[in-house]
Amino acid sequence: MENFKPFPGFGTQATHVGQEPEKWNSRAVVPPISMSTTFKQKGPGDHHGFEYSRSGNPTRNCLEECLAALEGGKHALVFASGLATTTAITYLLQSGDHIVSMDDLYGGTNRYFKKCATRMGIETSFVDCTVIDNIKKSLRPNTKMVWLETPTNPTLRIVDIAKAVKVVKENNKDIFVVVDNTFMSSYFQRPLDFGADMVMHSLTKYMNGHSDAVMGAAILNDDGLCQRLRFLQNAFGAVPSPFDSFLVNRGLKTLHVRMKEHMKNGLAVAKFLESHPCVEKVLHPGLPSHPQHELAKKQMRGFSGMVTFYIKGGIKEASEFLKNVKIFTLAESLGGFESLCELPSVMTHASVPEDERDKLGISDNLIRLSVGIEDEEDLIEDLDQALNAATGTPSHKKRKIAE
Ligand SMILES: Cc1ncc(COP(=O)(O)O)c(C=O)c1O
Repeated sequence: MENFKPFPGFGTQATHVGQEPEKWNSRAVVPPISMSTTFKQKGPGDHHGFEYSRSGNPTRNCLEECLAALEGGKHALVFASGLATTTAITYLLQSGDHIVSMDDLYGGTNRYFKKCATRMGIETSFVDCTVIDNIKKSLRPNTKMVWLETPTNPTLRIVDIAKAVKVVKENNKDIFVVVDNTFMSSYFQRPLDFGADMVMHSLTKYMNGHSDAVMGAAILNDDGLCQRLRFLQNAFGAVPSPFDSFLVNRGLKTLHVRMKEHMKNGLAVAKFLESHPCVEKVLHPGLPSHPQHELAKKQMRGFSGMVTFYIKGGIKEASEFLKNVKIFTLAESLGGFESLCELPSVMTHASVPEDERDKLGISDNLIRLSVGIEDEEDLIEDLDQALNAATGTPSHKKRKIAE
């Protein structure tokens, strides 16, 4: 992207913040995995900063410090999964409270608000937050939280975070705005800079980047809100293990290197698909054809490897394509070093009711790609052969050369 400028010092912070060897008597350069569940006290209640591993763990602390720095926030708290993070954040509310959320968001978040939060007496309005006026119209006197996801999963629509925050705070400054930043990672987007109160991540995805740990995080500046969430982290108890904390902390060390490759390959794949005769439409915020391309360039510092497209045809062609890929793996999840593909209507978004999927454009020919860091030429060749096999068309690449 022509005006792509990374956050200054990102790589240095990813490498060093929270990792100081002086923390350990051994001066270990890599934070040790601290497996102990309990810690010796000098006298009753008089300890060295750690009592019990659910309430605080040395390896987890290293990760939390690093995460806060990378997101440009003061505090970070990690949880056993992205959804455990969403649950803990929602526990900041109480029965009778109201949430305004995106209509187009990760299926599991949608399911949590609809099927779990309602059981606590918390109601959610699902609206198209890309239209700021819709947010304004949905706010009620009992609204306590606005939940945004941008870009959305899977249709990659963009919400103007600064405008959304402004309209919420003009209505009631006590409503807190949370942004799920999973699709961008801290490397490409920092919602706190646009006034959001809290950022949520499924660390399972780009932040860890190696598809070998499930975890989530909340990052925020407000001391009071942090204290309440820190209480919930311990009292609610869905904390990640020291080993997983070690893995995600290690993943962060290469986040900036990986994201540049994801962006390069993602853009190359998006452009290739846009020119392919078997493809109806491509959704990628880096393409000038994306309706919010200008907003994306203003709000984000680059693009991840997420590309969504409509294959010509229906469920038959989509399924054939997904069965024929060789380098891309047909699997749920995203953001790892390896390329994945999936069919949201049947897989990640099956829990979203069919009529809602139809409204959002999550049809049976919509395919989501998480473009990894393999070689660009190999990925494009794989997509080309799978598209041609699915639709019975001769190779696009060969045809282009012949022309
Ligand atoms: C955008 C987004 N938010 C939240 C989650 C939930 O995270 P986890 O699977 O770590 O619980 C996911 C998982 O796919 C996601 O894609």
